[in-house]
Amino acid sequence: MARNSSFLILLVSLYLMDFAIAKIPCKTEVSLPGMALKGFVFKKVPVTAPHVCDITCERETICQSYNYVIGEKSCELNSRTKEARPENFQPDDLRFYMGRISGRRSIPELPALSCQEIKLSEGKDSISKTYWLDPTNVGSSKLVYCDMILEDIDECKGSNKVCDENANCSNTVGFYNCTCKDGFTGDGRLCSDIDECKGNHSCHVNAKCNNTLGSHTYIDECKGNHSCHVNATCKNMDRSYVCECQPEFNGNGQNCTTDPCYLYENLSEANRKINYSTPHGSELCDRKLLGGWYRFVGAAGTKMPTTRVPANRCGTNWSGWLKGAHPTVEDGEVQRTVCFSDRSTGCQQSINIFVKNCGSYFIYKLHPPYCFSRYCGTD
Ligand SMILES: *[C@@H]1O[C@H](CO)[C@@H](O)[C@H](O)[C@H]1NC(C)=O
Ligand SMILES: *[C@@H]1O[C@H](CO)[C@@H](O)[C@H](O)[C@H]1NC(C)=O
Ligand SMILES: *[C@@H]1O[C@H](CO)[C@@H](O)[C@H](O)[C@H]1NC(C)=O
Ligand SMILES: *[C@@H]1O[C@H](CO)[C@@H](O)[C@H](O)[C@H]1NC(C)=O
Ligand SMILES: *[C@@H]1O[C@H](CO)[C@@H](O)[C@H](O)[C@H]1NC(C)=O
Ligand SMILES: *[C@@H]1O[C@H](CO)[C@@H](O)[C@H](O)[C@H]1NC(C)=O
Ligand SMILES: *[C@@H]1O[C@H](CO)[C@@H](O)[C@H](O)[C@H]1NC(C)=O
Ligand SMILES: *[C@@H]1O[C@H](CO)[C@@H](O)[C@H](O)[C@H]1NC(C)=O
Ligand SMILES: *[C@@H]1O[C@H](CO)[C@@H](O)[C@H](O)[C@H]1NC(C)=O
Ligand SMILES: *[C@@H]1O[C@H](CO)[C@@H](O)[C@H](O)[C@H]1NC(C)=O
Repeated sequence: MARNSSFLILLVSLYLMDFAIAKIPCKTEVSLPGMALKGFVFKKVPVTAPHVCDITCERETICQSYNYVIGEKSCELNSRTKEARPENFQPDDLRFYMGRISGRRSIPELPALSCQEIKLSEGKDSISKTYWLDPTNVGSSKLVYCDMILEDIDECKGSNKVCDENANCSNTVGFYNCTCKDGFTGDGRLCSDIDECKGNHSCHVNAKCNNTLGSHTYIDECKGNHSCHVNATCKNMDRSYVCECQPEFNGNGQNCTTDPCYLYENLSEANRKINYSTPHGSELCDRKLLGGWYRFVGAAGTKMPTTRVPANRCGTNWSGWLKGAHPTVEDGEVQRTVCFSDRSTGCQQSINIFVKNCGSYFIYKLHPPYCFSRYCGTD
């Protein structure tokens, strides 16, 4: 009995000493008298004192714990811990049990059966990382990644790629799940690129689709070849481009023509006005007028009259006036008839012209009439 109690004192002091040296309050092992781990002894070593077993165990990579045989003064080195094999941890009055104090690590020579076993052995602070396992217990070790939250092998993090490189891998208990990433098709173990440009894709009719690995892009055609007119602006949209005629140009973007509202000649003579009575013998004629768009400005007035003008006005003997109303802006270019009056009351001579409402003014697409005729202006 005296021997036993002094031995216990020694153990306690050893334990305190180790604790002081380690200075890290991490894993602390305490000896458990009257208990022993059965069935995992791989070596028996005689020692001079119990604490020598700690050193002996740490010299052996596969030593995980030991049973001290009190009467024999020897240590039985175990390849497992009581945490890993609780069913093998049994009462034994002749022994005490002690876990390996430090340097325990996963080694191929000592594979665990499962991540769960490692977690049991390491405690709840065990970290997710690679460990040596022999899950089928056939004596061949393999390095696996243990997810210590799931207490399961994380196949996704192993050194062997289980899914295609273009797949998402998610670990599940006992298995794993491979899902091809967006833009790829397949079972997850084998994924191939989907050619989004084939068949129905979301490209605009104007856009050129460019298939890329896992996705597709739209070629910015505004930067290269595009069908916009030289006087149009190419606008790159999300998946296409649009052509818009620049201001002062009309058209669909592919074909832009100058808006005549910005390209016309002025008619400004005072003798073109409807109240100008033409002196006999000085009748004028628009024969030399060049075909094109004209605006009435200044002394000539602002527009053509839309009611009958008597003969011998506007500096001519056949006065020209517009038969019909002016268009609205929305009407665009409209065709109208110009009547030339002689001394009778009707529309003796007429020609067709185009008229356009430019918002704040009107323009007229005129061409030379027969002599002696002239286009009249009014306010
Ligand atoms: C695998 O993942 C997919 C997508 O996340 C899911 O729909 C499917 O249910 C998962 N299968 C298993 C067995 O977990
Ligand atoms: C794959 O994983 C990424 C990133 O976690 C996620 O954004 C994507 O939706 C996943 N794809 C599929 C098909 O599960
Ligand atoms: C493409 O889409 C159109 C209209 O949505 C549909 O009529 C046609 O069948 C689709 N073609 C293919 C190959 O999916
Ligand atoms: C198509 O996409 C690939 C990959 O992004 C790029 O290298 C290539 O230049 C693109 N082709 C065109 C015509 O834009
Ligand atoms: C632009 O298109 C024309 C005719 O389609 C072609 O000849 C030319 O090579 C193209 N240029 C570029 C840079 O793609
Ligand atoms: C583009 O606009 C300019 C300036 O208005 C004009 O001179 C040119 O003729 C136009 N080009 C075409 C092709 O219409
Ligand atoms: C452009 O538009 C004008 C007027 O609408 C038309 O006369 C011409 O033929 C068009 N040109 C092209 C190349 O479409
Ligand atoms: C025609 O008259 C308008 C209004 O007075 C003026 O703004 C414009 O510059 C004139 N155009 C020409 C070609 O003289
Ligand atoms: C025509 O009328 C305007 C005002 O409406 C007047 O200023 C001008 O003198 C008149 N001209 C003639 C020739 O009567
Ligand atoms: C119009 O005036 C011109 C020039 O004075 C004259 O030669 C011509 O006969 C006149 N025509 C009519 C129909 O009065």
